[in-house]
Amino acid sequence: MSKSNLTTPRARAEAFAEKLRIDLPILLAPMSGACPASLSIAVANAGGLGACGALLMEPEAIRLWAERFREGSQGSFQVNLWIPAPTPLRSPEVERRQREFLASWGPPVPVEAAEGGLPDFDAQCQALIEMRPRVISSVMGLYSAAFVDRMKASGILWFATATNAAEARAAQDAGADAIIAQGMEAGGHRGSFDGQSAESQMVGLVALVPQICDAVALPVIATGGIADGRGVAAALMLGASAVQVGTAFLRSPEAGLHPAYVDRIGQTEAHETRITRGYSGKPGRGIRNVYVDAAASTDAPPALPYPVQRGLTRLMREEALQTGDTARMQMWAGQAALLAEAKPAADIATGLWDEALHLIG
Ligand SMILES: Cc1cc2nc3c(=O)[nH]c(=O)nc-3n(C[C@H](O)[C@H](O)[C@H](O)COP(=O)(O)O)c2cc1C
Repeated sequence: MSKSNLTTPRARAEAFAEKLRIDLPILLAPMSGACPASLSIAVANAGGLGACGALLMEPEAIRLWAERFREGSQGSFQVNLWIPAPTPLRSPEVERRQREFLASWGPPVPVEAAEGGLPDFDAQCQALIEMRPRVISSVMGLYSAAFVDRMKASGILWFATATNAAEARAAQDAGADAIIAQGMEAGGHRGSFDGQSAESQMVGLVALVPQICDAVALPVIATGGIADGRGVAAALMLGASAVQVGTAFLRSPEAGLHPAYVDRIGQTEAHETRITRGYSGKPGRGIRNVYVDAAASTDAPPALPYPVQRGLTRLMREEALQTGDTARMQMWAGQAALLAEAKPAADIATGLWDEALHLIG
């Protein structure tokens, strides 16, 4: 019998929630661009763990997010950053072809759009420590040993996202306190440490969770495609101690997303999302639309590496949002999008756990 079966799923989940000082083993997924404090306040006040996807936030915005959260809740949250990849090699010729391609989808793209313009990672890390979250999480790699020491010295837990057992073992060796096992069903970007091979190493959650549970001696949090109590119960049966849920919260009013995006989530069947590099240069799962398909066609120029592609697509993404044009809009969502309900986030969080408890007893 694998070690994950030595206790009941419910007891395991409740023990983990107690350690996190939350009432429900339901974690809001950190979602860059879709994680306003209002959403975390609702989830945390319902007993779950809030989340801040800080990737694109300057230190001051990170501080303000924490202030705003604490004005609305005495609960807890995680804050998340993408681990930076080495600076990409530039390719002026492919950038030129990509700018030409994108000009047929939106406004002309200036050469300097390729610069990307991301916040300074070290300054963000400093802001993360200062906001005193219960948890700091990582995706696409591991924090440095020095930063892990700082988290530990500040009493902050580190949850590391892994998309396979090898990444989970590496995270354990580096001092992670829990593993977020991200199945290929997940909405948003792939958490793979090696961005190059992300598409060729897609593992579904049902195969992934037990293998990561067997590979490490840490609690495992399942994420990807979980959007109702059946998914929560299944994840706990597979050995998870908690679930992390993204797409299922995106139709709640507290998420505040564009109404056209919200509508599309509610109409998207499992086969209607796909992995694309067309928006950011890194692979992510979003709702299939005309642009995503065109960007993947053999006639289209290859996507530039992150953050170059992200910079090049900014004007098109902004125009699509302003005009409500879902043919071009960036609409990250997971394979369980159709199960997402348009109701308050607190009801979604409590509903997930109540239904799971009904199933697992
Ligand atoms: C809009 C959106 C943005 C996301 N941004 C991040 C992010 O910044 N960092 C991260 O670790 N994961 C991010 N993710 C992935 C989620 O943390 C999580 O793995 C995923 O939502 C789980 O799958 P689900 O959407 O099917 O619940 C994002 C997901 C979505 C839908």
